Amino acid sequence: MRNMSNRTFTMIKPDAMKNGHAGAIIDQIIKKGFKIIALKQTRLDAGKAGEFYAVHKERPFYGELVSFMSSGPIIAAILEKENAVNDFRALIGATDPAKADEGTIRKLFATSLGENAIHGSDSDENAKIEGDFFFSALERI
Ligand code: RTP
Ligand code: MG
Repeated sequence: MRNMSNRTFTMIKPDAMKNGHAGAIIDQIIKKGFKIIALKQTRLDAGKAGEFYAVHKERPFYGELVSFMSSGPIIAAILEKENAVNDFRALIGATDPAKADEGTIRKLFATSLGENAIHGSDSDENAKIEGDFFFSALERI
């Protein structure tokens, strides 16, 4: 895989899907200069959601997180841009939308700390793991 450090992984979470924000979010992502390498709509069952967020297994909010993330469809995507992981975290804003900067995706579209509209990988290593979790080689450009 070439230059993975220029890639990140995202999910539009069930709250944003249900509230009709998917199109506006994808528009923002593209306008900010991220290129879509792979994209699909799917739905996680509780097992897959638990596996994806396994790093949070011991946290008090894990059960709620797994149940929320398996509550409806999501859109998963691999994105490419220089400094993708950091720039994308800046674009989505703080985990808690109440603390997110003006103009960030979470400030604009998130519902609450638990239901915060969008996921962004937190490192190059996790971007690769998470992209591979959802997409085969045939499903990406
Ligand atoms: P994400 O992984 O989804 O991009 O979010 P993040 O890095 O900003 O936050 P992280 O610490 O990785 O937490 C993962 C997700 O768990 C939910 N959460 N709920 N109720 C709570 O106290 C709480 N804390 C975190 C959020 O949906 C968060 O995005
Ligand atoms: Mg995280």
